Amino acid sequence: MKKRDITLFVNNEEYRLEVPVNRTLLQVLREDLNLVGTKYGCGLGECGACTVLLDDDKAVLSCLTLAAEMNGKRITTIEGLEKDGELHPVQQAFVDKHAIQCGYCTSGMVLKSKSLLSKNPAPSEDEIRDQLEGNICRCTGYVKIVEAVKHAGELISNEPGRRTCS
Ligand code: FES
Ligand code: FES
Repeated sequence: MKKRDITLFVNNEEYRLEVPVNRTLLQVLREDLNLVGTKYGCGLGECGACTVLLDDDKAVLSCLTLAAEMNGKRITTIEGLEKDGELHPVQQAFVDKHAIQCGYCTSGMVLKSKSLLSKNPAPSEDEIRDQLEGNICRCTGYVKIVEAVKHAGELISNEPGRRTCS
């Protein structure tokens, strides 16, 4: 298999890698960089478990993204959200609202929600459900996840001393 030399900036760390051209970003994150917070669900673009952020706030499905095409890009995984031992507001909101059960969907949900909130800090319930449509949760029934996303928007908007969504 043909290989390419690439540089990725993952969670503000620089990685120089040689990757087969058919290797997915999900494989690189989990197997090469040991960032296993990003989950393999379906591998087909249908569950959202593998969601990561590209260039800060664009949600992408890492199972459908070729690592070789990410040369020079900035990627954020769930491991990159916490800062100085403090959860990101979206993570904190998921904890506060008990929006986590088995947790398998959670990293994808949190990152997709962060992407949504970066564009719209006060989404309606319909907007949240619409945006999270591609992220499947088999445990929670989504009600608490929707509450968590609303709460995250409030945390981000109402605490001026707190860092912003980015
Ligand atoms: S593992 Fe990527 S969408 Fe399901
Ligand atoms: S908490 Fe189990 S799949 Fe969502």
